[in-house]
Amino acid sequence: MTDIAERQYRTPLFDAMVALAEARKVSFHTPGHKSGKGISTRFRKFVGSKIFTIDLTTLDEVDCLQKPVGVIKEAQELAAEAHGADRSFFLVNGTTVGNHAMVLSTARPGDEILIARNAHKSILAGVIQSGALPRFFLPRFDADLGIAVNVTAAAVEMAMRAHPNARVVTLTSPNYYGIAADMPAIVAAAHRLDRVLLVDEAHGPHLHFHPALPPSAVDAGADLTVQSTHKIVGGMTQASMLHVKGKRVDGSRVARVLQMLQSTSPSYILMASLDLARMQMATEGRKLLAKAIDLAEEARRRINRIPGLRCLEEREVRTWADFRLDVTKLTISVKQLGLTGYEASTLLNGEFGIQVEMADLWNILVIVSIGDRRDDLGRLVGGLEALARRHFASANRHPLTEIPPMPRLEDATLACSPREAYFGPSSPIPLSEAAGRISSDIITIYPPGIPVVVPGELFVPDTVAYLEYMGAHGARIDGVLGPGGGEEPGGAERPEPWVKVLEA
Ligand SMILES: Cc1ncc(COP(=O)(O)O)c(C=O)c1O
Repeated sequence: MTDIAERQYRTPLFDAMVALAEARKVSFHTPGHKSGKGISTRFRKFVGSKIFTIDLTTLDEVDCLQKPVGVIKEAQELAAEAHGADRSFFLVNGTTVGNHAMVLSTARPGDEILIARNAHKSILAGVIQSGALPRFFLPRFDADLGIAVNVTAAAVEMAMRAHPNARVVTLTSPNYYGIAADMPAIVAAAHRLDRVLLVDEAHGPHLHFHPALPPSAVDAGADLTVQSTHKIVGGMTQASMLHVKGKRVDGSRVARVLQMLQSTSPSYILMASLDLARMQMATEGRKLLAKAIDLAEEARRRINRIPGLRCLEEREVRTWADFRLDVTKLTISVKQLGLTGYEASTLLNGEFGIQVEMADLWNILVIVSIGDRRDDLGRLVGGLEALARRHFASANRHPLTEIPPMPRLEDATLACSPREAYFGPSSPIPLSEAAGRISSDIITIYPPGIPVVVPGELFVPDTVAYLEYMGAHGARIDGVLGPGGGEEPGGAERPEPWVKVLEA
C-alpha cells in the first residue's frame, strides 16, 4: 500500500473525539447537556446515549475549527489530499456558507462578478454581503424536460470576453439534475483569460472518486470549489467542504472569511462525519460508487421501458453540448402521464412511501447513492409502474404544454447593486403590480433554487407571468410574501403573492 493510501485510513478528528469521550473527564464546559447527562430523556431513548458523549466543544484534545492546529488541521489536510486540492476547509453550515465564503474571498464592493444564472441563492447572498455587481449569463434550457441544463464552455468563454472587468466567474456544476459542464475546458479558458473560477459543486462530492463520473472541478483545476458532502456521500446534514487549488486565491484569505462566517461552536459530530466520509471515499469510494452507478443504470433502463415515463440518459445529454451526466441522478419525466412532477411526487410519497429528492413542473429527481440497496430501487420502479399504469392510459389531459417561456434572465436589468436593493427602504406590493419596480429580495423557485429575480433587478411582465404560472401549478416560490405583505400565505387557497420592492 502506498503512503497516501495508508494515510487515508486515518480519521484523526474522530479518533481524538472518541479518546476524549472514553477518558470520562469531568466537564465544566459547554455543551450544557454535559455528555448527555442533562439531555431530554425522550431524545436519549430514541438515539441512545453514546452520540452525546462526542457532542463536544473546542478543547485542546479536539482542536478548534476557527484556527486549527491539531486534529482538525490534520483531518482537513487529509481531505485536501483525498480530493486533489491544495487546501480544504470543513464547513458546518453546508455549501451555503461555502458559497458565501467563495464570493467574499474573491469579490470586493463594486467588483463585477460573472455568474451563471442557475446559481443557488447562497451565491446571491454572497453577492449581497460583498457588495459585488453580478453580471449574469444563461445556462441552456431543455424545452422537453423544462429545466435549465448547464453552461457550455463556449458560453462561459463568450461571457468572459463580454465582461472583461469581471475577474471572478461562478458556475454550478453538476446542476441539481447531475448535468455537468465541461469543467476542464472551462477552467482552461478561465485561466487563459486570467479569471478566478468558483464552482458550486454542491452535488458533486463523489465525482473525484469514480472514473465513470464527470471530472470533479478540483481535478479540472477550479480555484475554489464547494461540495455538499452531506448531500451525496457520508457527511451528516450541513457538513460540506471548501477546496482551494492553485495560487490565484489566497488560502489564508479564505480562512479569515470562514472565521467570520462560521460558528465559534461548530458541531463536532458534523466535523467527524466529514473526517469519516473522506476516509470512506478515499479508501473504498470507487467500489461503493460502482455499486451505486450499477443500481442507478439498471433502474434507468427499467424506467425507460415503462410506457409514459422517460429517464434522462448520459448519451442524450452528450448530444446537447459538451455536457456530461452524473448517472447516479435519475431525472424522470412524468409529463406523458398528464401529471406535474409535484403531483407525481405527492402520489409516490402518499401511496407508496417513496420520497424523491425533488419535483419540478414535469419531472421528479431521484438520487441514488452509496446508501441505496437493490430493494430500494425495486420499490421505486414498482411505484412508478403503478403510477404509469393508472395515469398513462387516461392521460388525455396535458395541462402543461403551454408553459410560459422562462424569462430572458440574462437580459434582466440591474437598476442598482443587490446590496443596495436588499438594504434599501422597501415595501410590499402585489406581484401582479410589480412590473417596472425594483426587487429588494431574491425570488427563487425552490427546488431547484434558481433565482428568477435578484435584489436590484427590475420586474418585467414576463417574470411576473412566469412566477404567477409556476405558483398556480404548485411550485414553491421563496422570496414572495402572503397577501398584504405578511409572512404567512394567508387563508385563501391560492392567495395572490406579494413581493418586496424598493420604494420609488
Ligand atoms: C446548487 C446548490 N448549491 C448550494 C446549495 C446549498 O447547499 P447546502 O444545503 O449544503 O447548504 C444547494 C442546495 O440545495 C444547491 O442545490
